[in-house]
Amino acid sequence: MEHWLNKSVFYEIYPQSFFDSNGDGIGDLPGIIQKLDYIRALGCNALWLNPCFVSPFGDAGYDVADYCRVAPRYGTNEDLESLFASAHKRGMHVLLDLVPGHTSVEHPWFKESCSARPNPYSGRYIWSSSVWEDVTGYPNISGSLRGISPRDGSVAVNFFSHQPALNYGFARRTASWQSAVDSPEALATRRAMRDVMAFWLDKGCDGFRVDMAGSLVKDDEGSRETIKLWQEMRRYLDEAYPDAVLLSEWGEPDKSLAGGFHMDFLLHFGTSHYMDLFRCEHPYFSREGKGSAAAFIETYRYNRQRTGGRGLMCIPSGNHDMERLRKYLDEEEMKLAFAFLLSMPGAPFIYYGDEIAMRHLARTSVEGGYFRTGARSPMQWDDSANYGFSAAPADKLYIAPDEAAGAPTAARAMADVHSLWQEIRRLIALRMEMPALQAEGGVEFLCDGDTYPLVYLRTAGSQKVLVCLNPSAQPASCVCPYAPARLLYSLGGLGGLAGGKLTMPGQSAAFWAVE
Ligand code: GLC
Ligand code: CA
Repeated sequence: MEHWLNKSVFYEIYPQSFFDSNGDGIGDLPGIIQKLDYIRALGCNALWLNPCFVSPFGDAGYDVADYCRVAPRYGTNEDLESLFASAHKRGMHVLLDLVPGHTSVEHPWFKESCSARPNPYSGRYIWSSSVWEDVTGYPNISGSLRGISPRDGSVAVNFFSHQPALNYGFARRTASWQSAVDSPEALATRRAMRDVMAFWLDKGCDGFRVDMAGSLVKDDEGSRETIKLWQEMRRYLDEAYPDAVLLSEWGEPDKSLAGGFHMDFLLHFGTSHYMDLFRCEHPYFSREGKGSAAAFIETYRYNRQRTGGRGLMCIPSGNHDMERLRKYLDEEEMKLAFAFLLSMPGAPFIYYGDEIAMRHLARTSVEGGYFRTGARSPMQWDDSANYGFSAAPADKLYIAPDEAAGAPTAARAMADVHSLWQEIRRLIALRMEMPALQAEGGVEFLCDGDTYPLVYLRTAGSQKVLVCLNPSAQPASCVCPYAPARLLYSLGGLGGLAGGKLTMPGQSAAFWAVE
């Protein structure tokens, strides 16, 4: 049977800012349930929720204090269960965010591990034997905490200073305090994380987006032991929860797919050249026509080849860690960016609000967001108070919304046949109809990306779809060996495809079924 992921288009929800159902100024789970029909109307059929668990919120919830309890500000475990059920009723799937690499300093495991008295959690984190002995300087360890506990030792952190790294052991052991990957304490950490997955899968969640998935085993050359660890997790899931989906924040699909992940994310940092397309001085998708997609295509091809043509990579419109796309592209340019995002292999991810071209705001840091805070502002639903996000007084909102003139709203976007929102809806509907455009279809670039247009062939069985995108304001043309059978989609003016040549007006897209 076909896997649901093949046909999925995801919508990422940052729960704090989506919809506040009880007027306390912050988004919540009942609020998400109320807006499922909106997401479905756009055409998305899957959700990724950022962490919604008990946390001191020093990193917006990526600092978990209880993996098995919904943070009261979002609702209850029962609310999350009803979100799963309401989504399933609409043919949608839900992925939670699993943060296996670290916890908050407030997690009871960490508190126990800080005790001078040896206990079952003493080895749950990475501690040296004395505060004077450094734990930093090893790959995958980003810093340390010292002098904070009765226990004598320094403890490794994974990201921010308040996110101590869980102990999955070291692949290469060079100090006596480093656990082996198969030590009892490292295996106990794995079991604990398996229990967390089982807990939510039992309640109806469909799988996880896994945070910093490549970071678990320390000093792990080539990620060999981290890959083995995930293979073991996958074996466990295959037995107990064969349908459970795992997507990785890793950015190296040759490693993550070998580890058993279904798909990996194309990341905005590292080697992907994702930023060349959308967020740099001269983005390829800007109408100024000065960008290059060449390095992106080269890396993309390399990754497909390294994964035997699978290379399934989720390309996001944005996420809670990046500046909003709208900061670099206007609404018209974004239409072409979405024509790309929604016609590439892997599962596309739409970051809430990008479908209405929400802007990147200048905001001081909230919950460890720093510059990311500007992309985490409340969803703008309509022109009522607080854009319909919340009934709370404006100064009680989680983050102040976009108050500038012309701030977009979902209601206006849905009512306007020429809006980005409507274009996205059309593109998703086409993707749902055409297997060649879906996650597992083939892709072959017919251009090097150094110039315009960008042209690629998507295939599934005998179905062939030629995707032609010209983000530049200038007309563009290229040689093209395919003859058109049927025009499936067009945006902007329509050029031609005949006699071995493709011609395109400026700022246009055309998808052709070809022979
Ligand atoms: C991931 C998350 C990011 C978080 C970090 C630490 O990159 O996407 O928001 O701050 O991991 O968990
Ligand atoms: Ca609320």
